[in-house]
Amino acid sequence: MSSVYYPDYLQLDKILGAQAPESDKHGVEAHDEMLFIIIHQAYELWFKQILHEVGSVIAIFQDGHVDDNGGELNIAVHRLGRVQRILEVLVKQIDILETMTPLDFLDFRDLLRPASGFQSMQFKVLEAKLGLKMDARFGKQYYTSQLKPEHKAMIESLENETSLFELVSAWLERMPFFDARFWPAGEPPFFDKLKAVYTDSLVKGEEQNAQLWEKLFVTGSDDRRLTPAASRAAIFIMLYRDEPIFQQAFRLLNALLDIDEGMALWRSRHINMVHRMIGLRMGTGGSTGSGYLKGALDSHYIFKEIADLSSFLIDRRRLPQLPQELRKALGFGA
Ligand code: HEM
Repeated sequence: MSSVYYPDYLQLDKILGAQAPESDKHGVEAHDEMLFIIIHQAYELWFKQILHEVGSVIAIFQDGHVDDNGGELNIAVHRLGRVQRILEVLVKQIDILETMTPLDFLDFRDLLRPASGFQSMQFKVLEAKLGLKMDARFGKQYYTSQLKPEHKAMIESLENETSLFELVSAWLERMPFFDARFWPAGEPPFFDKLKAVYTDSLVKGEEQNAQLWEKLFVTGSDDRRLTPAASRAAIFIMLYRDEPIFQQAFRLLNALLDIDEGMALWRSRHINMVHRMIGLRMGTGGSTGSGYLKGALDSHYIFKEIADLSSFLIDRRRLPQLPQELRKALGFGA
């Protein structure tokens, strides 16, 4: 058996030989272009790792029967937690890039046109796999406009794949919590009870939230992808998250919100950095620059419908007791 040799194992000749500053090619002095290249490459490597984790979580949910109380859900939560940690590093890396001043950047910026992080395929694939749809995008007209035809086709084909959002939504819909067998005859159905407590808790100025309740939990609407059934299961998990059987399910929902927040923090730091670096100028990728990026920050939260559900949480003291039948069936013990 041949012994593994560190430089070969990591293919360092390829990785360390992959920095080719445009300024060198043009005989221009631009010291900071090396940092610019390395930082982008480091991002792309981390994007690769994130896609590896997200892809594996998608595979877990894709088999259609996640073991809610066992190993698979645990693995999914663990891996999404890792994604969130990587995102923290990605946000922090901007500090290093900001040691490059706008004047340093101008030494080589014009040599990069029309290249831009906007052409990062892995970033676009990640957004699509998590569940961002083309129609929900801010500035759809730019989105694939800067890509090579084969890359454009690949991103468009992702629209037909089932995203993590859709898989989680289907998983929520399958939860059996509200089966009639669990709710003894004569008892008001759980949601009526919860609605009454919730409505009672609304303060002056929040009256319109009573209609929001119908839209989220009963009728659904065109502007929501999470169906009423999935929303009901999700709020149930959020409310009873301290019950042993819901703990992992709750962590999963929380991990999705952490990822949204991590991406948003990255977007926000990137916008600030871009503004400092190029002011009000257009991006090398042809967008309006910070204007486009701010729109993307606001509109590209993927799991925001889960975050919306927090509007309906009530304090623990007012929470209806779970029926014994349900506790037994879910394995809490009577
Ligand atoms: C000097 C540093 C940077 C500047 C001035 C800059 C500027 C911009 C601008 C203006 C855009 C909007 C699209 C365009 O018209 O080009 C953009 C998009 C983007 N940039 Fe950067 N960027 C910088 C560094 C980075 C780094 C280090 C990454 C890491 C991969 C990155 C990743 C992205 C991504 C993924 C997008 C698309 C964002 C979206 O569609 O929501 N950028 N950048």
